[in-house]
Amino acid sequence: MTLDVAKDNDLREKILAENRRVHALESNVYLQRHPEQTNFFQTEILQKSLDKLCAELGNPKSRILDLGCGTGYLYLQLLARGHCLTGVDLSLEMLEVLKQKIPPAAKNRSTLTVMGVEDFVETDNEFYDAVVLSALLHHLYDYESTVRKICGKLSSGGCLWIFFEPLKQKIRSSLRFTLHKGIARLDESVYRLEMRLRRIRLLEEEYEWSDYQRRFGGIDPNRLLELLRSEDMEIKNVEKYCSRRYGCPALFATRLLGTQNTFNLLAKKR
Ligand SMILES: C[S@@+](CC[C@H](N)C(=O)[O-])C[C@H]1O[C@@H](n2cnc3c(N)ncnc32)[C@H](O)[C@@H]1O
Repeated sequence: MTLDVAKDNDLREKILAENRRVHALESNVYLQRHPEQTNFFQTEILQKSLDKLCAELGNPKSRILDLGCGTGYLYLQLLARGHCLTGVDLSLEMLEVLKQKIPPAAKNRSTLTVMGVEDFVETDNEFYDAVVLSALLHHLYDYESTVRKICGKLSSGGCLWIFFEPLKQKIRSSLRFTLHKGIARLDESVYRLEMRLRRIRLLEEEYEWSDYQRRFGGIDPNRLLELLRSEDMEIKNVEKYCSRRYGCPALFATRLLGTQNTFNLLAKKR
């Protein structure tokens, strides 16, 4: 093994280990710690995106694979709509929380597996009507090769839904960017106060390695689009907006400033 390959493997393992560690720490209060996923602005986007995915799928009992399903942000919504779900996550603790939330009547439509997505896409032999992932890609060491393998798990006409990923930002106007940063700071200060009042630990430095792709500014949707097209995927929808801890600053930044830090993408296998 050359030195570079050994270094590469060490980094890969470190990122996986950090993701296990951080998500074990936050599993019990995951969505309380992430109001940016549950505020009114994001919830409206989530519901509209779910409607779009389900309309593309047509079949109300589709087989859906949720990668990095966590405590069930997408998983529980899709299960409630009648689909058959397979959830994969490397955090046992996150899956334990999800398991408690699955309604008894839906248990026969739910399968959970503790595994890294990189290993899962290599070893699982099934095909799915849809693969969904929310806030996962920025945790991966090499998301591009994983996305390529994910495309191979879709049956013809199958959908890939990439949701709530940090977007590599382009700064066009310094005034707008200053306002954008000002709102972000205010939003974050209120969040810190709320977490302190609710006695929820902030985990300030913990994400350094687990959110690996943030080191490079997030995910570049243009690279992803290119990659998907080369995998014979038709792009159905790309949505970019500004996510914030709270709904009002997110709405203000998105609608009035027009700034963007998050994207969603829906693609379909030809
Ligand atoms: C930010 S959380 C998002 C969870 C859920 N999808 C949601 O939107 O609420 C990221 C999830 O991905 C999982 N994860 C991180 N790296 C992973 C990997 N390589 N394989 C599988 N799961 C991973 C974490 O354990 C965590 O549950």
